[in-house]
Amino acid sequence: TTMTTIYHVHRWKQQQQKFASITAYDAAFARLFTEQGIKVMLVGDSLGMTMQGHASTLPVTLDDIIYHTRCVRRGAPYCLLLADMPFMSYATPAQAFDSASALMRAGANMVKLEGGAWLADTVSALTERAVPVCGHLGLTPQSVNIFGGYKIHGRDPTSAEQLLTDALALEHAGAQLLVLECVPVALAERVTQALAISVIGIGAGAVTDGQILVMHDALGITGSSSPSFSNNFLSAGGDLAAAVRCYVQEVEAGRFPTTEHSFHS
Ligand code: KIV
Ligand code: NA
Repeated sequence: TTMTTIYHVHRWKQQQQKFASITAYDAAFARLFTEQGIKVMLVGDSLGMTMQGHASTLPVTLDDIIYHTRCVRRGAPYCLLLADMPFMSYATPAQAFDSASALMRAGANMVKLEGGAWLADTVSALTERAVPVCGHLGLTPQSVNIFGGYKIHGRDPTSAEQLLTDALALEHAGAQLLVLECVPVALAERVTQALAISVIGIGAGAVTDGQILVMHDALGITGSSSPSFSNNFLSAGGDLAAAVRCYVQEVEAGRFPTTEHSFHS
């Protein structure tokens, strides 16, 4: 087994090889995901909902992410592991240094933060200090109270241009990955083509370099509140391993997400 690094992710983009990633919060699932071919995992602050039962990601603390990052790292020693910087843990660059260093020491290879051009200084300062950064644009759940709900982003020309500008600003500042959540396929395609770094989509169509799903959505644990862009890979039959294998294969073959799992305007 070899360690997956950002170098591999860059190469997948150059080779136009699509990849599947997933959220993970504990060692058992992290091991199962590794066994089924998942090489990139995220300790998402979605754990506020999936693990803790909150209605949003805002209550999640840095210590919560640290705890789950340690758990996932033990189960998946060789994956490229991203950890979310929780709400208000990167309000200033100085605070971002403290938060990011704690996550890196817990076993993360990269930190993810939500926001656009306003974060450029934070992204470049973290990168200079040896912390790789993944951006997150579109529906950024930590901003749910600003947005007034969970909805599609970048539908009108002005917000689409703004999103593209933000993506370029993050890349220019040194971000090495970008998550795009809940945006129309055409915009996701523009961003993916405009950036040299890999773009990981969720609710952004099959056009991005990689895909990510919240594990509870992919395995049908979320139930009726599961988002429309997700898919229950367990319902096709078999077991957890087969479901994860199916997700990986469908993404790598470009069959997931389908147009029904995507937004078109
Ligand atoms: O917290 C999370 O699970 C995420 C993914 C949905 C990208 O940020
Ligand atoms: Na998140």
